[in-house]
Formats: sequence, C-alpha cells, structure tokens
Amino acid sequence: MATLTSNRSAGRRILLGISAGIAAYKSAQLARLLKQAGCEVRVVMTEGAQAFITPLTLQALTGEPVRTSLLDPEAEAGMGHIELARWADTIVIAPATADLMARMAQGMADDLLTTLCLASEAEKVLAPAMNQAMWRHPATQRNATRLAQDGWRLLGPDSGDQACGDVGPGRMLEPEAIVAELLPSPAALAQEATAQGLHVVITAGPTREPLDPVRYLSNHSSGKMGFALADAAVQRGARVTLICGPVALATPAGVERLDVETARQMHEASLRLLDDCDLFIGCAAVADYRAEAPAEHKLKKRDDDEGLTLRLVKNPDIIAEVASRRDAATGRPFVVGFAAETRDLEAYARDKLARKRLDMIVANDVSSAGLGFGSDDNAALLLWRDGDGEGGESLPPQPKRRLADAVIERALSRLPSRHTH
Ligand code: PMT
Repeated sequence: MATLTSNRSAGRRILLGISAGIAAYKSAQLARLLKQAGCEVRVVMTEGAQAFITPLTLQALTGEPVRTSLLDPEAEAGMGHIELARWADTIVIAPATADLMARMAQGMADDLLTTLCLASEAEKVLAPAMNQAMWRHPATQRNATRLAQDGWRLLGPDSGDQACGDVGPGRMLEPEAIVAELLPSPAALAQEATAQGLHVVITAGPTREPLDPVRYLSNHSSGKMGFALADAAVQRGARVTLICGPVALATPAGVERLDVETARQMHEASLRLLDDCDLFIGCAAVADYRAEAPAEHKLKKRDDDEGLTLRLVKNPDIIAEVASRRDAATGRPFVVGFAAETRDLEAYARDKLARKRLDMIVANDVSSAGLGFGSDDNAALLLWRDGDGEGGESLPPQPKRRLADAVIERALSRLPSRHTH
C-alpha cells in the first residue's frame, strides 16, 4: 500500500497559494505534509500573507524559492509565471481570504497568485479562512458559488472558535484534512487497485476511410479522451491495449498500442483481442460509412464536372458486435460505449445504450465550446444498462484525465466478479 501511496503522490506538482489570513501559519504544516507525501511543492504568497508568515519559512520547508511578485525580473528570468501556471497539477490556496475569493470570482489578475490561477488549467482547490460574519456575508457566499461554478473545489471552512474571538464558520480546515482531500487515502488506493489482473481494451481517435490514395473521410477526434482512459486504467494496474486511429499523441507509459487507420482495421483488431478482454471501452469516433469503391488512382477534377457523387456503404458497428459476443456465463467483457451528441444528449445516449446492448455509456455533448473533440476538458453523463442510478450520473467539465479516472472507476465497480478468470 505504501508503494501505491507514493506512486500516486510522488512527483505530484502542487502550487500552494497563501493569502493574508492568520491561518497562514498553518500553511507551513500543509507544505510540510505535502512534501512528506512525496509531492513537489512550490509556494506563491500574496503581499499581505508575508505579514503573517515569512517566505523564508516556506522556502526552508519546500526547498524551493518562494514567489511573491508578478513583476519580479529575476524570477521571470527563471520559471516565469506562465511556466509556473503550466507546471502545476493542482493549485491549492490555503488560506483563501474573502478578498482573494472576491478578486478571483471577478477573474482579476492583479497580483501573481490571481494571475497564475487565471493562466493555469490545473485542478484548483481553495480552503477559505475568515471571520464568521465575513464568510456568511451574501457577497462572500455569491463569490463562493461563482468560484465553484468556475471549477474550484472548496474545502471547508470549518466551524468553531476563531482567532478574533468569534465562534462560527470560517476557520480554515486543518492541514491534515486538506491533505486528505488532495491525496488519495490508503482505502481509496486499495479500491483503485481493482484493475490488477484485468485486460482493458480501449479504442481511441478517429478512423480514416480512403476515397482515393490521397483523400479520406474522417472526423475531429484527437484521441485525447481515449488516451486519458488508457492512462487511468494502466495506473490502476490493468493490462491495457489501446487500438487507435491516426492521432498525434504519445502512448501512455505501460500501455500497448495498436495503430490502425480504417474502421474495418479497428473492427478486426477489436475482435481479435476479445478472448481475454475484461473491459472494452469504445471511445473512438468510428466513421459510420466508407466509400464503397475507393479509387485506385487520385480522383481528377474535370472542367465539365457538375460535381462528384460518392457512394458510401456502412462500416461494421464495432462496439455493438463486441457486446453481442459477450460471454453469457461470465458477462465478459463489460462493454462501455461513448455517445457523441450535439442535441438531446440523454435520449440519444439511452437509445445507443439499448440498441448496441452496452453495459454503460458515457454521453458527451460535443457542441459545447472547449469540451469534446480535440479539447483538454470534457463533461459527461454516465448511464447504465441495468438502470442502476436511474437518472444517470452527471460529471461536470474537468480535464479529460480526471474524467477518465471517474469513468474507469465506475466501470470497474460494476465489472462482473472475476472468479472464473
Ligand atoms: O478524441 P477526442 O478529441 O479526445 O474527443 C473525444 C470524443 C468526443 C471523440 C469521445 O469523447 C467520444 O465521444 N467518442 C465516441 C465518438 C462517436 O463516434 O460516438 P457515436 O455516438 O457516433 O458512437 C457511439 C458508440 O459506438 C461509440 O462508443 C463508438 O466508438 C461506437 N461505434 C460507432 C460507430 C461504429 N461503426 N462502430 C463503433 O464501435
């Protein structure tokens, strides 16, 4: 278990933001605990925070220079603020004062910390800390709601005795509680390890259907979602085979990759791997049709052309066929499909779930800006065949890699027992 803990936390890059609250003294303990868990920690302090705790303390605890100013030529000559924003896997602000929350809720970038938050696509977490009346104030509550809508995860605040003598909500969560929220617990890791011994097959990316030797039919899939799933599955100890169409992505470490081009090649590779497959995930954007007779030589435009008529024929439905070959005795493989829709998401996804006889479907709206095809983020509605969770489970916009964790976790938790394997 210790290995798993360090594997998941080791090297995790955490940017700790500290703003001007008395709870800033607890940030030193937070930095220490994160370092002990194997994380890389860099600290950014607001000007006011330095009145409560010195940068030197944090530098000594993290072994890294502490950044305090946006306009610091020396610091910008090293890891500039944009690199720092890109460097972080997670930004955690503890304590987050009412003023900082208000500025961030407005999207302001008037110091280093707020600028980093705007520039970073990292997971973002904050631990509010303020007087109970300030926390209860409608303006702060509005800001907290706005920040949560913008993707921030709020930890706390706790309730109790306050440094100012008041009693009520507004205390920063204890550093141990913040770490417990940030890093997976041994119990969670034990659950995550459930992919050990399983073979997971994932299709990803687009297919290309040739029209002639230089042209093809395809779509905008980048493969990012499928690759994120492969990484999430391999991190949980599964043997993963990734069948992918033409994409420009590096293969996640430990994943076996099979490159294909057409839907028929993807179909053939998928069926070939079915014998020992426990979980099949169809994330590829497979072309439903291909040219009936691709031209042997490059199609030529003629001056007297009125246009060109292509006759398309249907490609095999890979995932429907995989599901139809499910072993009746073992229920294997467990089949997860995706549904890429631009309207009536749930209705179309439910139809695909039933028609293709899938166990689970991940429905994503590919018409939303910044989500779906090609983007780094996605959101999804999960639906199950057995009606488990009638209304489905809605996963809000988040990095594809994080969404992949949730999809793999939900699929694993429903996998039939492996006793016959
Ligand atoms: O690759 P990215 O840029 O990261 O984008 C991710 C994504 C939007 C491609 C991904 O999240 C997604 O939605 N993948 C499925 C795309 C798709 O083709 O959806 P569909 O609704 O047309 O197909 C439904 C299901 O049937 C899918 O599991 C698909 O893989 C499968 N299918 C479809 C046609 C076919 N001939 N064979 C299939 O197996």
